[in-house]
Amino acid sequence: MTQARLFKEFLASCHARVDQALDHYLPLGDDHTQLREAMRYSLFNGGKRVRPTLAYASALAINSDALTQQSETLNRVACALESLHSYSLVHDDLPAMDDDDLRRGKPTCHIAFNEATAILAGDALQTFAFELLSEASALDAKTQVALIRQLANASGAQGMVLGQAIDLAAVDKTINLAQLENMHRHKTGALIRASVSMGATALNATTEQLTALDTYAAAIGLAFQVQDDILDVVADTQTLGKQQGADIARNKPTYVALLGLDGARAKARELHQQAVTALEGFGESADYLRALSAYIIERGN
Ligand code: IPE
Ligand code: IPE
Ligand code: MG
Ligand code: MG
Ligand code: MG
Repeated sequence: MTQARLFKEFLASCHARVDQALDHYLPLGDDHTQLREAMRYSLFNGGKRVRPTLAYASALAINSDALTQQSETLNRVACALESLHSYSLVHDDLPAMDDDDLRRGKPTCHIAFNEATAILAGDALQTFAFELLSEASALDAKTQVALIRQLANASGAQGMVLGQAIDLAAVDKTINLAQLENMHRHKTGALIRASVSMGATALNATTEQLTALDTYAAAIGLAFQVQDDILDVVADTQTLGKQQGADIARNKPTYVALLGLDGARAKARELHQQAVTALEGFGESADYLRALSAYIIERGN
């Protein structure tokens, strides 16, 4: 089988794995509430599942039997990451934030339900992530706490939420490249870094392995948002599943706004190179991580 074919199958299998696990951990139930419906609506609406896939790939870089040996733990990590990410999208789309009507090809949560339900669904998705990790009983307590800490640090006032605050404060302002990079590293990079570190931590990676993986993850985390900025300009709404041109319409600072399209593309390629270089100490076990780095800067949605 070709490398490209193998990778495509890996993406599809991770997607199926996390979807099945999410359905298992958050079933609709017979007498379900509208809140639960809104949570599931926001989870099961065509996301690419990049963060869960990164966690699985990172675990595989540490131990090629990770998906069989630590299946339940890794599914919990993957679901926690996707749940946290989905919450961030539900809130990101709210009228007080980006005010978007379309997400993953469907009406955003506050349009499909209502604003209050979307706020609460986001809140509940966030706490659900930590509940999942707190019940990962196959792990020793120290590793479990490490995972919870990594996700909390990446998500809160020193991670994603800080990035979102910087983003909103920067609307209609001119910021320089260093400020833009700082914003992107927090709002998107932090959770991507956590995805890689959590997958490896669950497999008891060494400090040296974690350091190399973190260098990789910091590069792809930034590259991910650079590509998101590029796609906002070059993709079409149907392919994106969200409104094309939303950044320009709202006068958001982006890589394309600061560097131009060619400059942003060059930056993404440079970051991919940095990511691949960071994995030099790993053998074939890190091939999925290498392929994911390329995918992140080549993806069309
Ligand atoms: C979109 O994330 C928001 C950013 C952090 C740039 P994704 O591009 O991973 O969105 P989904 O999960 O595939 O919809
Ligand atoms: C969102 O960044 C990052 C999050 C933490 C959700 P964007 O606002 O650029 O994401 P999209 O383009 O709406 O998906
Ligand atoms: Mg935003
Ligand atoms: Mg947005
Ligand atoms: Mg965007």
